[in-house]
Amino acid sequence: MSDLPSFIAQYQARSTSQLLETLTKCEQQHASETGANRLFDAMRYSLANGGKRVRPILVYATAHAVAAINNNTDTFASAIECIHAYSLIHDDLPAMDDDNLRRGKPTCHIAFDEATAILAGDALHTLAFELISSSVTVAQDSAATALSAISLLSRASGAHGMVLGQAIDLAAVDKPLKAEQLELMHRYKTGALIEAAVLLGALSAAASNEQTAALRNYAAAVGLAFQVQDDIIDVTSDTEVLGKQQGADADRNKPTYVSLLGLAQAQAKADELRDIALAALTSFDSKADYLRDLARYIVSRNS
Ligand code: IPE
Ligand code: IPE
Ligand code: MG
Ligand code: MG
Ligand code: MG
Repeated sequence: MSDLPSFIAQYQARSTSQLLETLTKCEQQHASETGANRLFDAMRYSLANGGKRVRPILVYATAHAVAAINNNTDTFASAIECIHAYSLIHDDLPAMDDDNLRRGKPTCHIAFDEATAILAGDALHTLAFELISSSVTVAQDSAATALSAISLLSRASGAHGMVLGQAIDLAAVDKPLKAEQLELMHRYKTGALIEAAVLLGALSAAASNEQTAALRNYAAAVGLAFQVQDDIIDVTSDTEVLGKQQGADADRNKPTYVSLLGLAQAQAKADELRDIALAALTSFDSKADYLRDLARYIVSRNS
């Protein structure tokens, strides 16, 4: 067994300090401009308010499994968390899930206002790609690596990934979905970014094609499992632990793994996906133990 709690604590702290440093640099350039403070305050509010940082941690754990953590790993970890933070701000808006509580605090549009929340999300979205493109140095291969990162992160975020999943999710309210449709929705809305996190970690560590293929299988299973568990804890956890309103999915009549299969079968599905993820890593040595333990953590967490 790896010491996953220490790894998580270390890379949560590293990810948060990097994100805040990025934001401060950005803010310093525009401090005197009208409206800037409100925008940056909203961005900071949504980046720094205690997320689990699962996506950056997956970027780091994958780079560690393949070779070693380096500057690109840091950049990609920050970029994907910016995309995730943006997706949550927009997901909580009245036009989408209309949620008031996130990470134990009022959602961005409640703490600020809707327009500011939309803009903070927009700005975090583009900041992700700014971070990756600005990381290019004169070093050989650096531009090619950045371009690959931009390509895979943009595909995972937009109409081939998270945004498509969100569109399917919104269209599915009040409509029972078949198992295959629900799985597809979850793979897009959540799985795609989790998969991108692992692939970005692999890219940063120059993984071979065989390693990348195995990691993609791991990530696809873990990505779906992550959203299955999100559906489960919406029912089994409580508002204080979740940091979001317990029972929100049922209140809004959202199709979920629990509404489709019931709790026991949803849990069995998450466990099955964890085993698929673990099986995908058989060719990796003990440096992949953080990834193995992350798969176990993802289906046992209650927040
Ligand atoms: C919540 O993601 C939204 C989903 C994609 C299920 P997380 O559970 O990773 O949220 P934070 O970042 O830890 O708050
Ligand atoms: C969110 O799914 C997926 C995103 C792309 C943000 P949910 O709507 O289930 O996430 P929570 O439960 O609000 O965090
Ligand atoms: Mg949603
Ligand atoms: Mg939501
Ligand atoms: Mg949810």
